[in-house]
Amino acid sequence: MDPKPTSAARTSLSHIMTAVDTNLLGTVHGGVIMKLVDDVAGAVAQRHSGGPAVTAAMDGMTFLQPVRVGDLVHAHAQVNWAGRSSMEVGVRVLAEPWDRAGVAPTRVATAYLVFVAVDDQGQPRAIPPVLPETPEDERRLREAEIRRHHRLTRRDEILASRTANPL
Ligand SMILES: CC(C)(COP(=O)(O)OP(=O)(O)OC[C@H]1O[C@@H](n2cnc3c(N)ncnc32)[C@H](O)[C@@H]1OP(=O)(O)O)[C@@H](O)C(=O)NCCC(=O)NCCS
Repeated sequence: MDPKPTSAARTSLSHIMTAVDTNLLGTVHGGVIMKLVDDVAGAVAQRHSGGPAVTAAMDGMTFLQPVRVGDLVHAHAQVNWAGRSSMEVGVRVLAEPWDRAGVAPTRVATAYLVFVAVDDQGQPRAIPPVLPETPEDERRLREAEIRRHHRLTRRDEILASRTANPL
């Protein structure tokens, strides 16, 4: 399968936060940001893999700053790494006032999600490799490989521990 450049699937989603998005503290609920992140990452995964893709894991979700009512929130996403059927999508979330131009957006969250491309039986299917286009893309690819190694090692170690210590 021919590699696809990173820019081919990269996309963004934006949302103005209102009173329905808040938690009991009055700031925006983390789950609202997570939904936006999953939505934009899903669009990227579908675009890269050319068909259905499901969320297999979401990790490294870091909330850096609170988000408030009246913030215009942008989630930017791209494929960082692609394997046989799975891909890591990185998402950067920025916020700026919805009604004022010229205010530099603040980074409010970052997330890494694993999507698996599936066929019509829900079974993993092959996807194209990703072709990094910039030094930044190369860095993301290298770091995604480190995260994948840690994810799979952690999963294998936990399964081995359960096998060794049955309830
Ligand atoms: C994701 C899913 C299709 C994977 O099926 P599976 O039988 O475990 O598939 P495999 O073991 O062959 O793994 C397929 C790929 O996913 C990767 N993968 C699976 N689970 C993973 C995890 N938790 N973390 C990282 N990678 C994972 C594997 O490493 C493999 O990658 P590769 O093909 O690029 O080498 C299956 O678990 C599933 O359908 N999950 C539910 C997804 C869903 O409904 N999401 C929405 C939630 S509302």
